[in-house]
Formats: sequence, C-alpha cells, structure tokens
Amino acid sequence: MKLLSKVNILSMFWKRLTAEEIKHRVFAALHENMDYRKECVLGLPGTHLDEIEFYDDAPFLEQAAFLSAFIANPNHIGCHTLQEGQGESAFKGTQKLEAELINLCAEEIFGGPRGGQDGYVASGGTEANIEAVWIYRNYYREIFGAKDEQIAIVHSADSHYSISKAVNLLNIHAIILPVEEQTRMIQEVEAKHLLAKALGKGYKYFILVLNLGSTMFGSVDDIDMLTTLFEEEDLQFRIHIDAAFGGFIYPFTSTKNKFTFLNKHITSISIDAHKLLQAPYGTGIFLIRKGWMQYVKTAEASYVPGTDYTLCGSRSGANAIAVWMILMGYGSEGWKEKMDGLIAKKKTLCTELDHAGIRYFSQPYMNIITIPYSEIPEPVAHKYYLVPDTYGESPMWWKIVIMGHVKSGMMERFIKDVLDYDIEPLL
Ligand SMILES: Cc1ncc(COP(=O)(O)O)c(C=O)c1O
Repeated sequence: MKLLSKVNILSMFWKRLTAEEIKHRVFAALHENMDYRKECVLGLPGTHLDEIEFYDDAPFLEQAAFLSAFIANPNHIGCHTLQEGQGESAFKGTQKLEAELINLCAEEIFGGPRGGQDGYVASGGTEANIEAVWIYRNYYREIFGAKDEQIAIVHSADSHYSISKAVNLLNIHAIILPVEEQTRMIQEVEAKHLLAKALGKGYKYFILVLNLGSTMFGSVDDIDMLTTLFEEEDLQFRIHIDAAFGGFIYPFTSTKNKFTFLNKHITSISIDAHKLLQAPYGTGIFLIRKGWMQYVKTAEASYVPGTDYTLCGSRSGANAIAVWMILMGYGSEGWKEKMDGLIAKKKTLCTELDHAGIRYFSQPYMNIITIPYSEIPEPVAHKYYLVPDTYGESPMWWKIVIMGHVKSGMMERFIKDVLDYDIEPLL
C-alpha cells in the first residue's frame, strides 16, 4: 500500500512558563482589553460579571489571573486567527492569547505549517464537529453546486453522537461503517460495499469524520484504508478528525501519529481541552486549514467587527485563557510526561485484568479500557461509576477512563471486588 500519511516526525515543542510568567502574560493581555469598570462603555451589549456575587476587589484576585479574566468577562465572539486586528477591539489582548493557543495546538501538536491554520475555542467537541461538517457541506454546495441529497457523512459505528446531530441539523445523509467486534476497526469489505451502494444512490460528495479516540473504546480509525478507498474511486472527500477525546493524549503517547496536518487529506481537527487537559467546560478546540472558515462566514453578523464564523457566537474569553495557561504551565515535555503517566497507570490495570482473566479492549496509546458487560458484576460496576455503552436494552460494554484522580489503590480494590463478588457479593 502506498504511504499516504507521514509518520510522527513532528518536533513538537513549546516551552514551559513559570507561574509568574503566566500571570504576567494574562494580566498584560487583560490590560490590553477594554475595562468595563474604567472606560465609558455605552454601546457594548456585555459587561463584567455580577458585582455582588463576583466582586473584583478581593485581595487574592491580584494573584489569580484566571479568576480575574473570568470576572472581567471578555467576549471572544468571532474567529481571531482569521480576523487579526479586525475582531472586537475591546478584547484584543485576550483574543491574541487565543490566537496563540490555536497556533500552538495546530502547529506543535498537529504539525501544521506556521500560520497555516485557523480555529477557535468552541463550546465543546460537539460544536467543533458540527462546525466542520457545516463548513464542508457549504463548500460542496458553493463550489460544486451540490444538493444536500448528494452529500454524505461517512463515519464509524463507534463515532460520537455529535455526528448524528450534525447529520440532523445540516440535512445530509450518514453512511455508518460497521466495525469488527474485537478490534473496533472499520470493516473494509463492508465499507466498500456501503460506498458502492451510496454511489449507486447518487451520493457524490463525502465528509469523512474519523476517530482519534472513539468515546467508548478510544479506538483510532484506519485513515490510510479509508483514504485509499476514496482515492481509488476518484471521489470528492474531505476529512475531519474527531480528536475530542484523544487530541491531548494520542499525539503525546503514540510513536506514529498519522493524524496531523502533515497528511494533506486532513482538513480539520476537533480537540477538547475540557477532557484530558482538565480545562473548564466550554473549551472544545476547532482547528482547520486556512481558506476554509469562509464557507461559514455569516455576513448578516454585521454588527460584529469582522463578522462571525463560529456556530456559537458570543463565547468566554476566560475559557481560552484557561487552556492557554494549562498548556504553558506544563510545556510540551511536562504534558508528555503527564500523559505517559496515564498510559503507565492504564497498563498496570490491564496487567491486573490479564492476571484476573478479565477480557478487555484498549488502544495502546489511549487511557480507556473497555470491558465486555458480562465480565463485571453490575453492583461492582455501579460502585466504581463504570459507564455502559447504553442505558437502554442489552448493554455490551463497560468503560473505564484512567484520569489523574485514578490511583493504584482504587484500581486494586476494583479488581478485588470483581474477583470476590461470587464469594461475597457487595451489599
Ligand atoms: C470522540 C468524541 N467526540 C465528541 C464528543 C463531544 O464532546 P462534548 O461533550 O465536549 O460536546 C465526545 C464527548 O465525549 C467524544 O468523546
């Protein structure tokens, strides 16, 4: 098979900043912003947070950069990699930090060329995925005159339900590719068959959404197999990577990351900072190559300087700052070390599961372990808050996610409870 995507040749690096340096940068950015308390602001529809609940004269705020940003409440409406200098000037200081964050993610973590990507901090992975599909649907409409009934999203049966939302909202069709039960890999023969069927029905324009860490399994789709399939048929296709879960771990723990902007077929990527990065909720990151955001430019947003290109409209600048602060606080090496630590912990639990004879699926570079439902007594699963693949009828799997709060003792107790259950069921 020809080499479609380069392996991990990224020299990913960003320097760790000290707590003092981070604080200094954030306060400097806030000072560049307009201050609702100090300036004559009559026109802007926003303000700082409520002064009774969120007073700004607490002495600790001088040391608390994120909380100060939270209270100042900058609005980052728009896309600030695109509109440099054209966006809402009242918040230009913190918008610049957001642009820096987007560039760091696109260039250092996902190998994009310098200044070659746009993006923004969305409400979450759902919005970032929908934004991508919205862009490609409009592109096919605008450039090829495509009708909605000729456009299809192609994705694995293990994909997140946000893709179904995109299908529903954007009035296009989904081709759902079945996966192998044990490996969670897309079934190639079935994919070929479904594609041939779709072509027969008149679908001509395809949006591939591939998992870099599926929600339930952490599985990673075979990008080369799918790219070959669509290239061999000489089809119009664009690839979006749903790295909402895996985006802040897989690039750091894997030795061969094919899911980067070095792969010419990848146009956009979603990564959630409010998952692995432990940022506040409301920090889904959307990244896309330059030249694509224009397909969702809402010219009607005429009162927004630079207009709007995002799905959500107004959004929290403090959220973008939180993500920037976390990444700067670790530096690339510190973050890699943290993610390697999660994988090491996961391996320990896998070894214990092996010793206990409990079957499971786990992608080597992801922090998820998925166990057949029948292997874990329900009361034990509930005690440890394991998540089933469905709360409806006939669940098949339980999921364990190894995060920072999971300690060795907790994992040992879990295995012991599973093994002891037949002898001494939990009350
Ligand atoms: C792979 C994947 N994509 C998208 C999402 C949606 O993310 P959010 O809940 O931030 O909208 C999730 C959430 O679990 C996910 O795991």
